[in-house]
Amino acid sequence: MNENIRELEEITKVLLKSEDNFGELKQAIDDLEQLFLSVTEFDVHNPEIREDIHLSTGKAIGPLWAAMCVKEILRTKRFISGLYQGIRAALERFTSPIRILYAGTGPFATLAIPLTTVFSSEEIHFTFLDINPKSIQYVKKIIRAFAAEEYVTQIVQGDATEFRSDQPFHLIITETMQNALQKEPQVSITMNLVPQIVPDGILIPQNIIVEAALLNPKKNDERIMGLTDSENCYHILGEIFELNKNTARQFSSSNINIGETSYFPEVVLAFPQDVSAGFRQLCLLTTIQVYDEVILNHWQCSLNLPMKLMELDLHNSKPNWLSFQYLLSAKPGFKYSIL
Ligand SMILES: C[S@@+](CC[C@H](N)C(=O)[O-])C[C@H]1O[C@@H](n2cnc3c(N)ncnc32)[C@H](O)[C@@H]1O
Repeated sequence: MNENIRELEEITKVLLKSEDNFGELKQAIDDLEQLFLSVTEFDVHNPEIREDIHLSTGKAIGPLWAAMCVKEILRTKRFISGLYQGIRAALERFTSPIRILYAGTGPFATLAIPLTTVFSSEEIHFTFLDINPKSIQYVKKIIRAFAAEEYVTQIVQGDATEFRSDQPFHLIITETMQNALQKEPQVSITMNLVPQIVPDGILIPQNIIVEAALLNPKKNDERIMGLTDSENCYHILGEIFELNKNTARQFSSSNINIGETSYFPEVVLAFPQDVSAGFRQLCLLTTIQVYDEVILNHWQCSLNLPMKLMELDLHNSKPNWLSFQYLLSAKPGFKYSIL
């Protein structure tokens, strides 16, 4: 076994632990980043790798920014753990090897490569897909460095919102999102790929929920100082969006397309008249069920940061209704209005 694989194996053991021991976890993530940078001879000064690709369905972030995602400690840990759990479930359901599509690998195929130290190449086969040619070049280096050739059936440079496979997959994973599903094409990618999963196959993340909420900035300051729990800082108004295998299929038939924009069903929520005036920031909260009990909750990483929409003056009067609608375009995100 080469030294790179040995080191990756040790890091992966830490990432797959059920508890979050922050000192140990931070060290493992730092080591993983350094290992990826060194085996790929990643050239952080090359201006090409800073360039995002702008699609009609959202922004594909450039290889440098995609590489830096590894540093989001809980994001990386939860996604790798969730993928691990999803693969185990797929191995019980289907005959090996499990066909996995990883859409949006970035330059390191960060979420998949560590798991080559845990599963055998008889158990899992990956198709790696990214739109960025530079990322694809680096992915090829990563595969060589960790002698993972037998795990990878195909490496595709292409758009995951249009990609078509000859064979369906047992599991599909994609992390092409920001908080409140804004800017990046997670929704379009999921809608295109879900029909390419076998019946009873697995989508990761399994479910993404966006809720509208009222945030209390004073209580949020107390949360930051460790004086209160996050649940006390906001008042949930209601769920406005869910992205999973079922909704991804439904959206394809229920959306209305006008020009370059696809309009999702509008959601109207009643405004609570008894909420105190301190809860004055209208925001969107994102919860990601990566797989089963592996969940990324509010504030755990950038994908779960509350997205602030507007300040409300609740001292004199309160609105009656709020409306939200997800729009798919070159800048995906929510449109909202006060009724
Ligand atoms: C947020 S990064 C994630 C990188 C890596 N998977 C990780 O989790 O650390 C998203 C990656 O998805 C790719 N991507 C975004 N939109 C895409 C699309 N429509 N088709 C293929 N790749 C896409 C970007 O090029 C980028 O490499």
